[in-house]
Amino acid sequence: MKRTVGVQASILTLLMASSLAVSLVIAADTSQERAVKYILATVQAFRTVYSKAIVEHVQKGGVRPSENWHKDDHAIMLNAQFVKAAGAELKDFELGLIGLTPIYKFNLPKTQAEADALKKMMASPDFKVLTFADGNQFKGLAADHAIVQACVDCHNSHPSSPRKDFKQGDLMGAIVVRINNK
Ligand code: HEC
Repeated sequence: MKRTVGVQASILTLLMASSLAVSLVIAADTSQERAVKYILATVQAFRTVYSKAIVEHVQKGGVRPSENWHKDDHAIMLNAQFVKAAGAELKDFELGLIGLTPIYKFNLPKTQAEADALKKMMASPDFKVLTFADGNQFKGLAADHAIVQACVDCHNSHPSSPRKDFKQGDLMGAIVVRINNK
């Protein structure tokens, strides 16, 4: 009898310990997911302000966004370059832009899980943001659609672009955030 109680008690302790461990893991995942979603929302907000307020405003004064902006005093960076330049300033996590048919190969998804997530977004407009664990990182993707014709025109006519048939509204790629698991 005593032995049965002892065994039951240790099973109970084991169960409690493992459920605590599981809830800690879930809590950790949830906070990573929230962090990634907040970062994506912030990047999208800054990018919108850059495109709508800054780019539109300077165009009235004859300044245009251009890929080779650094060689031209009357040009500013493209919004994709703005996001990537901000990403280059970050030390604790990665921020970038990816596409399945990117202008430059260095903007391809870095892993199969990223490619799969992008394909999932491609297949359904319901997936605007996707978050997932991938190796020793936790990642988030925010869908990047051709909201204006200029996105389509530039990508379709860019000499390095492998895809020439984008239409307005198409998914062109995604903003990606990669944070390291502790
Ligand atoms: C004037 C040309 C131009 C315009 C306009 C433009 N892009 Fe791009 N885009 C580029 C170039 C060049 C790159 C590669 C930049 C780099 O990584 O150095 C790029 C990169 C990207 C990427 C990363 C994957 C890839 O295809 O290389 C995405 C996604 C993207 N752009 C989406 C958009 C969207 C959405 C718009 C409209 C809101 C847009 N672009 C407008 C030229 C343009």
